[in-house]
Amino acid sequence: GSSYDADIDRVIVSEEQIRDKTVELAKQVAEDYRRVDGVLLVGVLKGAVMFMADFARAMGRNGRSVEMEFMAVSSYGQRSTSSGVVRILKDLDRDIAGRHVIVVEDIVDSGLTLSWLLKYLASRSAASVEVVALLRKPDAIKVNIPVKYVGFDIPNEFVVGYGLDFAERYRELPYVGVLKPSVYARA
Ligand code: PRP
Ligand code: MN
Ligand code: MG
Repeated sequence: GSSYDADIDRVIVSEEQIRDKTVELAKQVAEDYRRVDGVLLVGVLKGAVMFMADFARAMGRNGRSVEMEFMAVSSYGQRSTSSGVVRILKDLDRDIAGRHVIVVEDIVDSGLTLSWLLKYLASRSAASVEVVALLRKPDAIKVNIPVKYVGFDIPNEFVVGYGLDFAERYRELPYVGVLKPSVYARA
């Protein structure tokens, strides 16, 4: 396996669990949006790249065509004391007015990123906005946001893999795992 495996304490969500859940979520979303034209997936860089790619393909296998857009955002100032103010690093390339948007996220942690993003997308006059998130940490939530589709509720621990990083590393791990505390100490 990857040399990163040694930095992982335990696997929280396996590759197979991710694959099965992605298929299940796409099936549900495809069913819910069967009468909707022009579904637009908005992936939130960088964490959502893996899930976005797999989720979009799973939608396609369900005969549900989608378009894909990406945004990159960064929380403003110190993360732990975030006011929920977010800076846009990369905006949408196209107008989304009247579009049915599904935000694709890897994880809902405090909820601050999504809370801001949902207001932003509404201000851009999307016809509807829902969220599909692979992971959610119920014990870390600071703002309540409506996340219609959630893959897994996980404990409030530092997890990496499948898009999630620690200092930009570990995103390429095919599973989601808890990082060993010794790795923080090293950093
Ligand atoms: C992470 C994650 C979510 C967000 C969740 O992104 O990918 O987008 O944090 O946290 P929140 O619910 O507390 O707002 P990050 O800002 O680390 O950027 P990245 O996706 O580029 O890693
Ligand atoms: Mn992110
Ligand atoms: Mg990150």
